Amino acid sequence: MPQALVTGANRGIGLELTRQLLESGYTVHATYRNAKGGLVDMNHPSLHLHQLDVRSDEDVAAIASKIEGGLNLLINNAGIADGRWSSVEEIDLETVGVVMEVNAIAPIRVMRGFLPALEIDGGGTVVMMTSLMASIADCHSGKSYAYRASKTALNMLTVAMKQELVERNISLMLIHPGWVETDMGGPRAPLQPRESVAGILDRINEQTLEMSGRFVQYDGELLPW
Ligand SMILES: NC(=O)c1ccc[n+]([C@@H]2O[C@H](COP(=O)([O-])OP(=O)(O)OC[C@H]3O[C@@H](n4cnc5c(N)ncnc54)[C@H](OP(=O)(O)O)[C@@H]3O)[C@@H](O)[C@H]2O)c1
Repeated sequence: MPQALVTGANRGIGLELTRQLLESGYTVHATYRNAKGGLVDMNHPSLHLHQLDVRSDEDVAAIASKIEGGLNLLINNAGIADGRWSSVEEIDLETVGVVMEVNAIAPIRVMRGFLPALEIDGGGTVVMMTSLMASIADCHSGKSYAYRASKTALNMLTVAMKQELVERNISLMLIHPGWVETDMGGPRAPLQPRESVAGILDRINEQTLEMSGRFVQYDGELLPW
């Protein structure tokens, strides 16, 4: 039975990823930062819950020491939005640092912590939950400064690391889930988590080492950098 780990699994896209991965036959290590949220009602023999703040080396190490066998799939899903400041003067630079830490730096921390587990079964897949808002080519409306920059940094870190990791049989994927109705996406989002996640799982299933580093939307459309 393949094993997956999902960060930020207590609500939104992470919760739906957990549900659909379990339905597909994965053993799922679902992580939550504080509250277990929707994971509380999800009783499944292949579901394991772990507390993880993605900013904590200790939390990552504690989970890595508990997982037995290889990890086939790591989904760096946890993320935060920014202040949506309306002017350059309003940007809260401290918040910019936090957004960069959670969205760009923490996925590298988590991936690094699980590299030994990802190598056990001969290599696995690491999914980085990015956004179309990372795209410099698509940045027509501007704003959302810290969020955009954090996801662009995540994209570059991932592409820059791809060669080294391909040599270790680990394939990286940068995925945009679409505009999804969650706490972050808001009530006007046109896409439900179920549809977005079904597409994300299709992209994971088709992922090869040769595709490593691609920037792709949930429905398979390749996105401009
Ligand atoms: N929704 C969209 O339209 C959309 C579009 C493009 C990209 N994305 C990306 O998709 C991912 C999931 O988004 P979503 O819409 O599901 O967001 P969400 O509903 O706001 O959920 C965010 C998740 O991230 C967790 N999280 C935040 N900071 C964390 C930390 N320091 N440590 C561990 N977990 C942390 C949250 O945990 P708590 O409950 O503890 O806060 C929550 O589980 C994010 O990376 C987001 O940037 C979303």
